[in-house]
Amino acid sequence: MSRRIAILPDAVADQIAAGEVVERPASAVKELVENALDAGARHVRVELENGGKTLIQVSDDGSGMGREDAILALDRHATSKVRSVADLIGIATFGFRGEALPAIASVSRFTLTTAELDGGGTELTVNGGRLDRVGDAVRRRGTSVAVRGLFFNTPARRKFLRSAASETRAAHEAVATLALAHSEAGFELQVDGTCRLAVPAGQAPEERLAAVWGREIAGTLVPVSYAAGAFTVSGYVQRPGDAQPTGRRTQLFVNGRPFKDSFLLRAAEAGYRSAIHPGDRPSVYLRIGVEAGEVDVNVHPAKLEVRFRDRMGVERVVEEAVRHALGSLVAAAPVGEWRPLPAGAPGAAAAGLSAEVLEGLFGAATDAGPERPAVEAGHGFDAPLLQVFDAYIVYQAQEGLVFVDQHSAHERILYERVMAQLTGGGAAAQRLLLPLTFELTDEELEAVERHAEQLTRVGFEVEAFGGRSVVLHAVPAPHPRFDAGSCFREVVADLARGRFGGWANGLERFAATYACRAAVKAGERLEPAEMRALLLRLFATDLPPHDVHGRATIVQLPLDELERRFGRR
Ligand SMILES: Nc1ncnc2c1ncn2[C@@H]1O[C@H](COP(=O)(O)OP(=O)(O)OP(=O)(O)O)[C@@H](O)[C@H]1O
Ligand SMILES: [Mg+2]
Repeated sequence: MSRRIAILPDAVADQIAAGEVVERPASAVKELVENALDAGARHVRVELENGGKTLIQVSDDGSGMGREDAILALDRHATSKVRSVADLIGIATFGFRGEALPAIASVSRFTLTTAELDGGGTELTVNGGRLDRVGDAVRRRGTSVAVRGLFFNTPARRKFLRSAASETRAAHEAVATLALAHSEAGFELQVDGTCRLAVPAGQAPEERLAAVWGREIAGTLVPVSYAAGAFTVSGYVQRPGDAQPTGRRTQLFVNGRPFKDSFLLRAAEAGYRSAIHPGDRPSVYLRIGVEAGEVDVNVHPAKLEVRFRDRMGVERVVEEAVRHALGSLVAAAPVGEWRPLPAGAPGAAAAGLSAEVLEGLFGAATDAGPERPAVEAGHGFDAPLLQVFDAYIVYQAQEGLVFVDQHSAHERILYERVMAQLTGGGAAAQRLLLPLTFELTDEELEAVERHAEQLTRVGFEVEAFGGRSVVLHAVPAPHPRFDAGSCFREVVADLARGRFGGWANGLERFAATYACRAAVKAGERLEPAEMRALLLRLFATDLPPHDVHGRATIVQLPLDELERRFGRR
C-alpha cells in the first residue's frame, strides 16, 4: 500500500503559515512593530519603499536579543512570551505564537540586526526561509528588521498586492492603530523618504489620539465613560452633528489590545439612535475593559479579532455607553455644553400647566413610554419664553440663553411617541364626520398599501376607494394645530419617493417621516402655554439636543460668551 500522507518540510509549513499571518506589507509591519513594543521599545521607526513591496524596515530601541535567541526566534513556535496555555489568559504582550518572524522570513529576503547592549550585536540574513549568514554587527541596544522583496518566492501572492499607494495606506493604518494602543512610545513612519507620521514618546492617550487622527476630528469628539456589569467602556465618540457618511475613523481596544469588530461598531452606532442620519458613520474610539477570562484573543490568524464570552452583554454595554455619553450633549457645542438645571427647580407645576392642559397641547408624556424623570427634575420654564422669527423659542437659563428650534423639537417629541405607538398599543384616532378623499399616484397607492399597518397604528384609517382614490375615515390628533389632510399627503408622498431612504429600520423610517410631517413648522406662531408644553415634552425625550436628522434642536449662548463679546471678561 502506498503512503499518501507526509509531514511537510519546515520551509513549506512556514510558507503556508505565512499565508495566514502575512497577507500584505501591512501585516508584516504590524507584526514587526508589535514585536518592538513587546520588547519594551520607547521609539519605533518604520520605513517603507514602494508600499513595502521593495522594503519594510522596522527599528526599535527595545531589549534586543542575544545571538542564540536571535537564531532561535526564527524557528516556528519560538517565543519568549508564553510557556503554557494558561499564560494566554490575560496576556499583555501582542505576540504569543512564535510564528511571525519565521513566517515573514520564509517569504522574503530578511535581515535581523540586534544588540542587547550598545555596541556588539548580531546580524542574521535569511533568504526565503533559509538561514544564510550569522555575523557580528555594531548597533545600539535594540533590534532592526529589514524585509526586502516580500513574496519574491511566492509569485501567486505577490500578484495580489495592490498599488504602492494602497499598500502604504494599509501599513499606515497598522502603525496608527499601534500608536494609539501605546501612547507612551514614540513612532515614526517614513514612506519613500518622506515622513508620514511622527509622534513623540510619553504622550497621554488623548494627545496621541489628536496627533494620529488629526485635530479636526479630535475636536468633534465627546468623552465616553461608563461601566455596567462585567464591562467598562471609556474613550471618545463623535458628536452626532459632525458625523459624515465617509471618512470616519474607528478604533476598538479590549484590555488595551486593538481589535476589529463590525458588530460592536454597529452597537456603538445604535447608541446614536435617531440622532444621526442613517447614512452617517460617526468616528468611534472605545476602550473596553473586562476580566481577562471573559475574552479570548487567540481566535484569528493575524489576531485582528477577539471573542467575547458574553457577546450580547458587550454589545449592549457599548450601545449604552455611547447613548450615555451623547445624552448630556448639545450638538451645537461651540456655545457650551448642555447642563440641565439641578433637580428641584420648578417644572410643569411652576409653568402653570395642569396635566390635562399639557396633554391637550403636545400629547401625554406617557405616550412616549414610561414617565421620564427629566420632567420632574425641571428646567425652570417659569422663565419668560419668547418666540422669535416664528421659528425659535428663546429663554434665559441659569448660565446663558437657550434657543430651541420649534420644528426640530416637536419632531423629536413625535418621533419617540410614534416609535412607541408603532411597537406598542397604537395611537388614539379621531373619527371624521366628513371623510377626506385623496387622489394618489400609483407609487403613492403602493406606498399606502406597503405601510398600511403603520398608518393604522398612528391613527390613519385608510380605505381604498377604487381607482386611485383613498378615503380617510379617521385621523390622528397629535396636537391642536395638526392638519391631518396635508400631513397624510406629505407622508404618503415621502414614503413613495423614498425620502428618508437611508434609514435601515422600516419602523424608524416611517416614524421619522411621520414626525417630520406632523410636527409644527417654522412660521407658526405659538401661544406661551404651547411653548412651555413643547419644552417640557422635549426635555422628557431621550435625546433633547438632537432632531431625527441629527441636527441640533437646542443652541445655547452661554453668559460668559456674551460677557466676553461685550468685553466684560
Ligand atoms: N524587536 C524585537 N526585540 C526583541 N526581541 C524580539 C523582537 N522581535 C522578536 N523578538 C523575539 O523573538 C521571538 C519571536 O518573535 P515572533 O514575532 O516570531 O513571535 P512572538 O512575538 O513570540 O509571537 P507571535 O507569532 O504571536 O508574534 C519573540 O518571542 C521575542 O522573544
Ligand atoms: Mg510577534
